[in-house]
Amino acid sequence: MITGKTKIIGIFGDPIEHTLSPLIHNEAFRCLELDYCYVPFHVKRENLKIAVEAIKALNIKGVNITVPHKETVISYLDELSEEAKVIGAVNTVLNEEGKLKGFNTDVKGFLLSLKEEGISVRNKNVLVIGAGGASKAVVYGLLKEGGKVYIYNRTKSKALAIKEQMNKYGFIEVLNKIEENLSDKVQIIINATSLGLKKEDPLPFDPEILDSKHVYYDIVYPETKMIKEASKRGCKAIGGLGMLIWQAAYAFEIWTQIKAPLEAMKKFLNTY
Ligand code: ATR
Repeated sequence: MITGKTKIIGIFGDPIEHTLSPLIHNEAFRCLELDYCYVPFHVKRENLKIAVEAIKALNIKGVNITVPHKETVISYLDELSEEAKVIGAVNTVLNEEGKLKGFNTDVKGFLLSLKEEGISVRNKNVLVIGAGGASKAVVYGLLKEGGKVYIYNRTKSKALAIKEQMNKYGFIEVLNKIEENLSDKVQIIINATSLGLKKEDPLPFDPEILDSKHVYYDIVYPETKMIKEASKRGCKAIGGLGMLIWQAAYAFEIWTQIKAPLEAMKKFLNTY
């Protein structure tokens, strides 16, 4: 029940209708009987500045930020976490008594989802496909944990830009193409493109390079065609649900300072 005391959390994006975040977070609030409510706000580009100002004016406790505002929102915030600074994108904002602090929970979400699966990336060679916003979080997380990154992207210049920026955190090499001999060289292969989101999307790469010694990780949720291909070839295949839930759990903890009910959130999304 919404009362005069209910704390409001929001999400700003355009479009916003497809978002699963209100479902996940409201389920978590319900589960722990917390007096919070999570609502979607359809915020167009030209209204982002006043929408962010409204977080303070309306005493909204926090928001998630989604497409297309993750980068532009930064200039309207008071403070940034280390991850948000490095990635140059914010997906979570906390209103700390009128001070707006931006976080990027994708990095931690990605790392926690790997940990949950019992996978260590230290000294492993990891092939990352894609060089968009999500890929940046994945690459930074891998380098921070001591992984060696080989990155391939359709638009090479974007992969080179990530290398330029992330070089100082560890080993990263840009590939011109995904060659077959990579199969023996890498232990983990990650689809960090948006391919698989739409049913008609092509596969992000030829699945023939996959075999049972590989871990295949796909940041896309729900289950992609590539996850099925990887499983067929005996890979340990991990889909995007883990990263989605863990980044949400970390955001939940930033807002409430309470441990997120992870299993309930996951179960809810699985049955939705
Ligand atoms: P996100 O925030 O989800 O990472 P993004 O920043 O738009 O989204 O990045 C999308 C990624 O998917 C990019 O690496 C993009 O490749 P380009 O940089 O060449 O655009 C990749 N991608 C999207 N559609 C693709 C396609 N049809 N073939 C290959 N790569 C594709």
